[in-house]
Amino acid sequence: MRKPIIAGNWKMYKTPSEATLLARQIKETLEPATFSKKEVVLCPPAVNLAAVGTVIRESGLDLGAQNFYPEAEGAYTGEISPLMLKDIGVKFVIIGHSERRQYFQESDQFINSKVLSAVKHRLSPILCIGETLVERDAGITEKVLEKQLGGGLNNLAPEETQRLVIAYEPVWAIGTGKTATTEQAQTAHAFIRGFLANRFNSEIAERIRLQYGGSVKPDNAESLMTQPDIDGALVGGASLTSEAFAAIIRAAAA
Ligand code: PGA
Repeated sequence: MRKPIIAGNWKMYKTPSEATLLARQIKETLEPATFSKKEVVLCPPAVNLAAVGTVIRESGLDLGAQNFYPEAEGAYTGEISPLMLKDIGVKFVIIGHSERRQYFQESDQFINSKVLSAVKHRLSPILCIGETLVERDAGITEKVLEKQLGGGLNNLAPEETQRLVIAYEPVWAIGTGKTATTEQAQTAHAFIRGFLANRFNSEIAERIRLQYGGSVKPDNAESLMTQPDIDGALVGGASLTSEAFAAIIRAAAA
């Protein structure tokens, strides 16, 4: 009932010419029938968005941004607004990725302002949450998720959840080759869905798609994405080659 959503987060990889080539390879590798059953999003670095958007236009692939500033316009040197993203065909925005929380000190409050701004501008937020290894070992994973969800979704009205996607990404699994076990991932996803049922209602919770992220690879993608509450993946490293990314997309349960 929930359409699987697989997004490739290219992070700070690929120059514009490399990004154009990769987007073309992904487009040519995927069977056109993929898109009736699965949503596939490419999230290149901002400087490559327009070029990648041109390559994937009318292909069925969607365009996503890794970041933006929550104001529509203004004197914010170096920043990119949701209006600018919309104008070049961006549909999804990754918000609150752990690398932004860690290296750019993004708070739940700031992340919340981006979620509200995205919704206002009709962009689909992919809100990232996840615990560190220290937090998992201390047994406070659910507390951390609750805080990040509560903060990130503050003031979001039930009718504003239409486009919302949540990515559970345990920080200790990102870029480390250490994936959460299918059981750990499913448990966290079930907890997130329970939170959403309380925060909104069970109908909305059943509709919102939850991605798993953190060292998703072709060989673990199927076991993760066939879990009942895992509706897709947010893929970093393995989204940088068309073969690996296509294999992950094919593994999604649809
Ligand atoms: P990874 O990154 O797949 O390289 O672990 C995932 C992410 O950070 O979204």
